[in-house]
Amino acid sequence: MRLKIAILPGDGVGPEVTEQAVRVLRVAADAGGHEFEFVEAAVGGAAIDLTGSPLPTRTLDACLEADAVLLGAVGAPKYDSLPAGRRPETGLLTLRKALGAFANLRPVACRAATAGCSPLRPEIVAGADVLIVRELLGGLYFGEPRGFGGEGDSAAAFNTMRYTVGEIERVARVAFESAIARRGLVTSVDKANVLETSRLWRETVTRVAREYPSVELEHVYVDACAMHLVTNPRRFDVILTENLFGDILSDEAAVLAGSLGMLASASVGGPVDLYEPVHGSAPDIAGRGVANPLGAIASAALLLRHTAGLEQEAREIEEAITRVLDAGYRTQDLRDDEGKYTVGTAEMGSLVVEQAAELADVRHAYHAV
Ligand code: IPM
Ligand code: MN
Repeated sequence: MRLKIAILPGDGVGPEVTEQAVRVLRVAADAGGHEFEFVEAAVGGAAIDLTGSPLPTRTLDACLEADAVLLGAVGAPKYDSLPAGRRPETGLLTLRKALGAFANLRPVACRAATAGCSPLRPEIVAGADVLIVRELLGGLYFGEPRGFGGEGDSAAAFNTMRYTVGEIERVARVAFESAIARRGLVTSVDKANVLETSRLWRETVTRVAREYPSVELEHVYVDACAMHLVTNPRRFDVILTENLFGDILSDEAAVLAGSLGMLASASVGGPVDLYEPVHGSAPDIAGRGVANPLGAIASAALLLRHTAGLEQEAREIEEAITRVLDAGYRTQDLRDDEGKYTVGTAEMGSLVVEQAAELADVRHAYHAV
């Protein structure tokens, strides 16, 4: 298999964690005789420094020509005062739109080894395994009109939450398809007691559900969902929700995995899929070699699964992560009584590389007999 992967390290801890994810991808390529070509390009603040734009044309072209994009993170305090169009985050949002990536898949699971890293009691988080399907190209993030108006006391700011039936249907289908391969439950999350967009959301998802008789559908309000995520997370299988609700709920759900640094994501639906850890640029720890690379590495696993169809390789990376955690290795964000060894970004990467290589070796030896 040949694969062209655009690597966009971005800002903050982005470069550190993507470097480790690329190492793991190289192992998968070498072990399976695949040819992965990596093309690096600038995005976010790093791109602003180089070109003045958070998504230079050259970067966008490189992404559109690739089979998949792996992005680190964007954003840094020094750009906070720039106008919206020139902020690092705009680079990411424009990229998502340009790639047509309307469904953002964020798997969140509690591994046995890291149950003690959660601020929640282990008996609450143990066994939790949720897939958040977040609509990525609509809602308040992109709705028009938006802006500032008025003066003095009437000075105001406004955004528009807007969804079309088509936008809801296509992401709902992704959620139902995902549920078929999991435990068969979709929880659609909205605020239908208040918002028109949520009423349309609920109506549309209910209609799409009829195409998937084997999947159970329930509707939950977003405020209640936020609470259930930390009181009874095992009740969820697939959570389907709109853009901003999904953004917020996925950071909250990270407490199930022990740390935001663990979370991976795949943004799919367009011609080129985009993979990124959920954690963001973490400027406070950037450049110190202590960031958790597992979210980025797990994103690389999702890339192998969804874009390359290399399910076995993807599972081996996920299993490699589990083994390293089982052996007691932790980055500084994963603190519990079980963790015996605190390691840095590169060492954590090396440990996963080692385990992934070993798992691939075993598989090849098995196939050879
Ligand atoms: C995320 C991030 C982004 C978002 C930011 C960086 C624009 O928080 O991927 O969750 O809000 O979508
Ligand atoms: Mn977010």
